[in-house]
Amino acid sequence: MKGKLESLVDKNNLPAHIVIIMDGNGRWAKQKDLDRISGHREGMKSVRAVVNGAKELGVKNITLYAFSAQNWKRPKVEVDALMELLKHFLEKETEKLIENGIRLNAIGRLWELPQEVYKVLVNTIEKTSKCKEGTLTLALSYGGREEIIDAFKEMMSHGNIAGEDINQTNFSKFLYTSDLPEPDLLIRTSGEMRLSNFMLWQLAYTEIYVTKTLWPNFRKRHLIKAILNYQKRERRFGLTGEQVKKREVI
Ligand code: FPP
Repeated sequence: MKGKLESLVDKNNLPAHIVIIMDGNGRWAKQKDLDRISGHREGMKSVRAVVNGAKELGVKNITLYAFSAQNWKRPKVEVDALMELLKHFLEKETEKLIENGIRLNAIGRLWELPQEVYKVLVNTIEKTSKCKEGTLTLALSYGGREEIIDAFKEMMSHGNIAGEDINQTNFSKFLYTSDLPEPDLLIRTSGEMRLSNFMLWQLAYTEIYVTKTLWPNFRKRHLIKAILNYQKRERRFGLTGEQVKKREVI
């Protein structure tokens, strides 16, 4: 049954793509006098809640910043535990993703992942490749600057585009996200006001929503609150409010 909060969501104005910086696992664990890894483990419950919640709400694309290119520098025990959790998540959730019609996608320097994680990842991507209800993208060994450099290298080596012909449309085809819509809404948990090298190109006109809720406490109702907040915004894409009202081209 739909809750009161959910009934307020305008289904005709849903964000096509929500991207999330899942932050605060360590602080959640600290508050409970637990180790950081327990915080990440608890964070997996939020991942499931958000993926299922998005599907129920009709949001077609979710991207989660699960492991940054900089996270490799964390203590080895934490990196190993995160890789193990990721592997476990993929092994356990593949069937559920298929049942829900959700395609798994991954962005980042995936070749840097441990081989056994990479294998499980590719297996889930392949098994869910025909799913059409929605896409879950995991950003893994991901950095926004790294992505722009990788795209530039790809364009230089395979793009066959003369310098003067480079534009936003043909450049963005080389980004990891070329088959995804632009993000409409960025959610960052735990109250931090920064982008942390996430989707630097793609976030140009994205609406930003920061909540103090720590990631392990984040549930479908928090997702709904973020969407309701988004639906109150006027998106102008550099135009004036008047132009937007008159629906001049965006
Ligand atoms: C940031 O919290 C979170 C991460 C670096 C990892 C996020 C990973 C998960 C939620 C679990 C695995 C994910 C998937 C998709 C299976 P932090 O550790 O920086 O928290 P802090 O700032 O409070 O220390």
